[in-house]
Amino acid sequence: MLTFKTKLLSSLLLGIAFTTSAQNSTPVYLNVNKPIEERVENALSLMTTEEKVALCHAQSKFSSKGVARLGIPDVWSSDGSHGVSDEKLWDEWSSAQWANDSCTAFPALTALAATFNPEMASLFGKSIGEEARHREKTMLLGPGVNIYRSPLNGRNFEYMGEDPYLASRMVVPYIQGVQSCGVAACLKHFALNNQEISRGEINVNLSDRALHEIYLPAFKAAVQEGKAWSIMGAYNKFRGEHCCHNDLLLNRILKQDWNFDGVVVSDWGGVHNTDEAVNNGLDIEMGTYTNGLTTQGHFPFSSYYLANPFLKGIKDGKYDMAKLDDKARRILRLIFRTTMSANRPFGRFVSPEHSAAARKIAQEAIVLLKNDKNMLPIPVGKYKKIAVIGENASRSLVVGGGSTALKVAYEVTPLQGIMSKYGKEHVVYSMGYASGPSLYGAEAPSKLNADSLQKAAIEVAKSADLVIYVGGLNKNYYQDCESGDRKSLSLPFGEDKLITSIEQVNKNVVVVFSSGNAITMPWLDKTPAVVLSWYLGSEAGNALVDVLSGDVNPSGKLPFSFPKKLTDIGAHAFDKMCYPGDSVNVYYKEDILVGYRWLDTKKIEPLFPFGFGLSYTTFAYSKPAADKTEVATDGILKVSFVLTNSGKVDGAESAQLYISKQKSAVTRAAKELKAFKKVFLKAGESQTVTMAVPVSSFAYYNEAKYGWEVEPGNYTLLLGSSSRDVKGKVEVTVK
Ligand code: BGC
Repeated sequence: MLTFKTKLLSSLLLGIAFTTSAQNSTPVYLNVNKPIEERVENALSLMTTEEKVALCHAQSKFSSKGVARLGIPDVWSSDGSHGVSDEKLWDEWSSAQWANDSCTAFPALTALAATFNPEMASLFGKSIGEEARHREKTMLLGPGVNIYRSPLNGRNFEYMGEDPYLASRMVVPYIQGVQSCGVAACLKHFALNNQEISRGEINVNLSDRALHEIYLPAFKAAVQEGKAWSIMGAYNKFRGEHCCHNDLLLNRILKQDWNFDGVVVSDWGGVHNTDEAVNNGLDIEMGTYTNGLTTQGHFPFSSYYLANPFLKGIKDGKYDMAKLDDKARRILRLIFRTTMSANRPFGRFVSPEHSAAARKIAQEAIVLLKNDKNMLPIPVGKYKKIAVIGENASRSLVVGGGSTALKVAYEVTPLQGIMSKYGKEHVVYSMGYASGPSLYGAEAPSKLNADSLQKAAIEVAKSADLVIYVGGLNKNYYQDCESGDRKSLSLPFGEDKLITSIEQVNKNVVVVFSSGNAITMPWLDKTPAVVLSWYLGSEAGNALVDVLSGDVNPSGKLPFSFPKKLTDIGAHAFDKMCYPGDSVNVYYKEDILVGYRWLDTKKIEPLFPFGFGLSYTTFAYSKPAADKTEVATDGILKVSFVLTNSGKVDGAESAQLYISKQKSAVTRAAKELKAFKKVFLKAGESQTVTMAVPVSSFAYYNEAKYGWEVEPGNYTLLLGSSSRDVKGKVEVTVK
């Protein structure tokens, strides 16, 4: 028999692990087979106060400490919601210039919302989660679900539109997808970060109804159904307290009412005092202003509100140890769920599957807004000379925008896509206008001469058989970019004038525009075809020509309304205290009537309604029927109808179901989305579609009772192809 010593020696030599009683003394927190809560308690019991405090604040721009002594890894995060951003320097915003961190860019989140397809959200989450996992991230900083309140908000492109139900249905599978990769999704920005003007201090005033019915549902769904492991506090204030340490939002609503057991991370530099940070629900403080090496320079990491001041307060008995333990527990739980989980799969980075996913999501996101006389699709060979005009045809749209800017492995531009589809020899490009470089927080107009660019473009347009104009916003400052709201609803860079001039010399014009926001279209009447192409990421050019050429039938629908003018939108229908406020306060005077809820209730005609989007085929809806005419407040209604692809090409339709309550004790929107379903049908094919709607979702938030209440009485269910194109109605009575 081998002695213990020789057994040890031989297995060490052979590199083989063997079991001894020593393994039984493996601490519980390292045992991946033990329940997470046991591991958390065990790790916590082994930690010093200093180590616990160290968990609660940044140690670098994008990381906070683990417990090195115990082998518990640091928490590493990365922007953003539509691609994993490049590594940054330890305590500066600049790129660390690594050579192996160029990612796949997926479409921005407004584009994802436009797919009206939760399966796309799941594919998106899984794909970006795999990229984050490959890059060894603990936490991906996204997705964002702030409601699109004003079309001027510089960050709307990062969010999922104006409807709380749509955003809820899209965010849940996204989070599940990310977290299936062992990476925490960090939901943001909680809450009410609906403008960039004065974002760091503006105090948002709104009713409990607007809060609960419009601005919180997507966060709630992400927490309760998506089981998000982390959430980021917003920069702004709500009812007098900054959202990164807001007792009502974080302690009472998020942690108490919604049972959130994950980590609250501050937005970068969003923390303002230690007492509130300790007591009002924040767990990790991240920062912006540090500028020096770790413990030196301006406001070093050790001076963060949750660093030395917190430690001192604990030691002095000012803060309760239970507060620190609660934060530490949450952070340990996050680590055990992610980097120290046995179930953490391997990731992959810039794989062909991710390119395919980015392309598929982009194809489903593109919205066809107008298509007179079947201008589109454009078959290969139909036009001999195609003029491509507009800077966005050749400009990178993955950069700019602020923290979501990406360093990508590749980006197919619209011009590249059009050339490879229709043949280089048939395409001539003219820039038409120039926007200048993308700088964060500053405008830098182009030095190129606008008149010459326009003249050259018009010459090209004159002699072409077809013009594909590719413009729009571009994530420059004030043009869909963090830290600045747009100044108007119009297209920038003289584009309206340019499009109008092109149309004077050529009748065959297709306008393609990028944007995360609504725009006005003074040229719309004269333009035969209009396509909204969002910010589509690495596969932008491919997805665009897939749709332009008809290889793919467009099926995107608008996740927000396009008003005819700014004042048609609730947030802009009042004085400046309603938007953007006076830099101290803003009052949401439109209350629950956000987006189409305002337009429909006030009977204002939009330019394009919420839920709108054309197809190359047509769809016929049969009369809808409900499975019952009377239903209990806790019942479920099933609404069925037959959807037929009545045209000549295969395609997909997102059918939408809204409710309307005419007689109510409270103000209600004329319509509220309660269900939608995207259905793929071959040409000529029919399918019976059933949507199940829980009656509990008919509830309004009763401010007197601080709770949800389903009003009994008659409701109309409206089945539509958009919020304005109602195909059929069903009346039901709730008892
Ligand atoms: C943004 C966050 C972002 C963070 C880190 C902040 O300015 O508001 O969305 O995740 O920076 O880049």
